[in-house]
Amino acid sequence: MRVTEEVVGIVRGEATVTNYTFSAQPDAELRFGEFVVAQNREGEWVIGNIRKLENINWLLSGGKSTYHALQLDLEQYGDSIEANEELIATVRILGKIKVNGGKVEVLPNRVPIPNGRKVYRLSDEVLRAIYNPGVGYIEVGNLLLRESVPIYLNADELVSRHFAVLAVTGAGKSNTVAVMISQIVEKLRGTVVVLDPHGDYIKLKLPNTGKEYVKIIEAKIRPEEMDSEELADLIEVAKNATIQREFLAKAWETVKHDYPNLGGREIIEKLMETINDWIRHKEAKYWDGAKQSYLTEELKSERVDTLRGVVLRIRRFLRNYGALLTSEDLISQIEPGKANVIDLGPLDEGQMKVVVGKLLHAIFEARVDYEKARKKLERIKEELRESRVARTSKLDEEMRELEKTMRDIEAKSKALAEPILLIVEEAHIFAPQGEHNDAVRILSRIAREGRKFGVGLGIVSQRPNKLNEDVLSQTNTKIILRIVNPKDQDYVLKASEQLSSDLLSDIASLGKGEAVIVGQAIALPALVKIHNFKSKGGDYGGEDIGVVSRWLKRAEEEEREREIQQIYEDEGIEYDL
Ligand SMILES: Nc1ncnc2c1ncn2[C@@H]1O[C@H](COP(=O)(O)OP(=O)(O)OP(=O)(O)O)[C@@H](O)[C@H]1O
Ligand SMILES: [Mg+2]
Repeated sequence: MRVTEEVVGIVRGEATVTNYTFSAQPDAELRFGEFVVAQNREGEWVIGNIRKLENINWLLSGGKSTYHALQLDLEQYGDSIEANEELIATVRILGKIKVNGGKVEVLPNRVPIPNGRKVYRLSDEVLRAIYNPGVGYIEVGNLLLRESVPIYLNADELVSRHFAVLAVTGAGKSNTVAVMISQIVEKLRGTVVVLDPHGDYIKLKLPNTGKEYVKIIEAKIRPEEMDSEELADLIEVAKNATIQREFLAKAWETVKHDYPNLGGREIIEKLMETINDWIRHKEAKYWDGAKQSYLTEELKSERVDTLRGVVLRIRRFLRNYGALLTSEDLISQIEPGKANVIDLGPLDEGQMKVVVGKLLHAIFEARVDYEKARKKLERIKEELRESRVARTSKLDEEMRELEKTMRDIEAKSKALAEPILLIVEEAHIFAPQGEHNDAVRILSRIAREGRKFGVGLGIVSQRPNKLNEDVLSQTNTKIILRIVNPKDQDYVLKASEQLSSDLLSDIASLGKGEAVIVGQAIALPALVKIHNFKSKGGDYGGEDIGVVSRWLKRAEEEEREREIQQIYEDEGIEYDL
């Protein structure tokens, strides 16, 4: 494998194992971020990145700084000025490379590069081998400075150690996610679940297979899964309305006890009916689970008013959101090998949090149960094979139980019997810093333990510093597009092991679809131009709204209207539309 391209300079000055500088060859076209290579004292090839480019003129830099002095110099030195112009490049060393057939490994460099060594542009071949180590990798873009070098991410690492896509609005987060999803689903046939609060993906179409592997799932609320506090949040009973909440809890427990098979809209209607009965009889007859009996409580008129308030809320909830109630299990709709888009659009933020908390819980629990049962069954089978345990009817029974657990989960959805990737758009809604809701709890749990049970997490946000620190810092690979707010930058830096502050300084100047990628899923940190999903043949809903064009279109229509009106007036015809 060829390592070098043309000579671009000569090493000079102080050189350490992490940095060196070189004088650029005058014709070399060097750019910030370019990859170069030189041999260290032991003859090993050491690769690095240009992190600083400085232009110096030895004739003009001699301390004479006034305009007039410089003008005199220019006249005196004439053409020799240009010959004294020099470009000095500072390189940050990424490591030494070990070429092994078609593979290239990057190892720590422990030896400096001597002065006088030639510096070369690193070949495309080496870069390609570094950034595409083989199967199980997905292509997301190409090196910003080398269009000919595609960038691949390790899907195993992405799923097992999680990732985050962070950037200001409109920088290209959803495009990036769409590119990743298409590769994971079409190429690796993996299962992805996308939580989509703003309908960014409801029109998702993959580049090669269109809608075949896309499943849009309408987010619905399953009230029977809720405890009374969640229900109270859902129907918007204020947190401090303790009496309303207390009676709601009593009524809810009673309804759930009396009608264990009811669900969806019906159970909410039954709840309203029960409270209405209490109001009518001025007496609450409720089931007390702890005492395992019915109790009655007389209701004074102010209590009756309180209950009327609750009924009002339930009625309003049914009117506004009744269509969203279901007794169907959301997770049973998730299909393996597809991009399952959960459309949260119709819900408000509070409801989204409740629904997402429940959904993630159900997915994670199913995965935990499945993997635990699978591992245990495997262990028993192995022990039997190696005759380390005796086959007893009790053991048979246990094995049957474990198999049943697995079968039940598979029956719910085959997708739950395999690793799954969850992508959370607008993650700051569900996992905000400093808030403790169900969604945050389950997200941090997945971030911490998902790896063991094959539940991957990808979080997407435009407000990194509003994200729960626990969750963000557990995401290993960071795909960072343009971020300008220094607070967000600092926060991201703190949460990323591999993001150095010099890479961070690149982030503010990135263009649309350009990203810094760091973490275990990429061979070396890189500046990447993410593929444009649309020009690859895909499509999703999250396009810019076209502000000015829409204003102008309306103005044009108004203008046309005025012209018609004018014509009518000129003709003396009454104009009325
Ligand atoms: N890699 C890219 N190449 C070319 N165009 C891109 C790229 N990424 C994004 N765009 C364009 O930029 C626009 C915004 O992209 P996108 O919807 O991905 O932004 P976003 O960061 O998700 O924004 P928001 O915060 O509003 O969700 C889109 O019109 C998209 O086509
Ligand atoms: Mg988006």
